[in-house]
Amino acid sequence: MVVAPIQTIGLHKSFGDLHVLKGIDLVVQKGEVVCVIGPSGSGKSTLLRSINLLEWPSEGQVLIDGINIVDPDANLDKIRTRIGMVFQQFNLFPHMTVLGNVMVAQVRVLDRPKEEARQIALNMLERVGLSDKVEQHPSQLSGGQQQRVAIARALAMNPEMMLFDEPTSALDPELVGEVLAVMRDLANEGMTMMVVTHEMAFAREVADRVIFMDDGQIIEQGPPDKVIGNPDSPRTRTFLARVLDPTHIDSATPETADFSIDLSSGQFRLGPTHR
Ligand SMILES: Nc1ncnc2c1ncn2[C@@H]1O[C@H](COP(=O)(O)OP(=O)(O)OP(=O)(O)O)[C@@H](O)[C@H]1O
Ligand SMILES: [Mg+2]
Repeated sequence: MVVAPIQTIGLHKSFGDLHVLKGIDLVVQKGEVVCVIGPSGSGKSTLLRSINLLEWPSEGQVLIDGINIVDPDANLDKIRTRIGMVFQQFNLFPHMTVLGNVMVAQVRVLDRPKEEARQIALNMLERVGLSDKVEQHPSQLSGGQQQRVAIARALAMNPEMMLFDEPTSALDPELVGEVLAVMRDLANEGMTMMVVTHEMAFAREVADRVIFMDDGQIIEQGPPDKVIGNPDSPRTRTFLARVLDPTHIDSATPETADFSIDLSSGQFRLGPTHR
């Protein structure tokens, strides 16, 4: 039997009285690209963050490669190194060069020798088209370039799967394409990916499956042409009418990043882990 890289079973998450995830059952197969769409506040980020336990589930299971990581006996740090995560905010270390940013977790978390980490960082930066920026500092880069550094940093850890939470939402429109191009390459190379995005054209082209979430539940899922092109649920239709309307103004506010690197797990975190 082939074990799915990502599975959730009856996943619930509450923040106090607020019931945010209401029983999510999800399987992502190896090499599959799943785009998650849905209105603001529907729980998309919470779902993604629950998958590597940046949020601790209130109920249910999260299986990574078949291992229930909610189990207190699971080796969470080890499992987390298999999952790369890219956020809306790039969260690069401002005082380090681009190269340093892509090296640091390799050295401190994976214990890679510096020279090896350097070589891998250079390879990853080449892969995202930034070979000419390795000695720059993040403030000298455009948003699109910074996000590509963040992707290179995640890839340098050799993840088996990648989670993207609105990776292009903080970017000026003309910079979105270069980041999506890197993600498209990654998808074509067979990376298992979950992508929360409002980029419907990207979802339609790259996703194997689109999941529409509303109010903490999966309302509908299927091939992109079906879910985006001809959805069953009136809720999906209403949402799509809104995001596909060129005059629609997105009200989503960028998260304020309370960022830390957890050297025991290699995660670049927004806010605390709720355990
Ligand atoms: N740490 C937290 N503490 C309390 N409430 C939270 C926390 N994180 C998220 N929430 C709440 O959970 C709900 C779902 O949030 P989430 O960020 O998952 O939505 P989303 O679908 O990603 O929305 P958006 O499209 O705006 O990013 C929201 O009502 C949010 O305010
Ligand atoms: Mg979100």
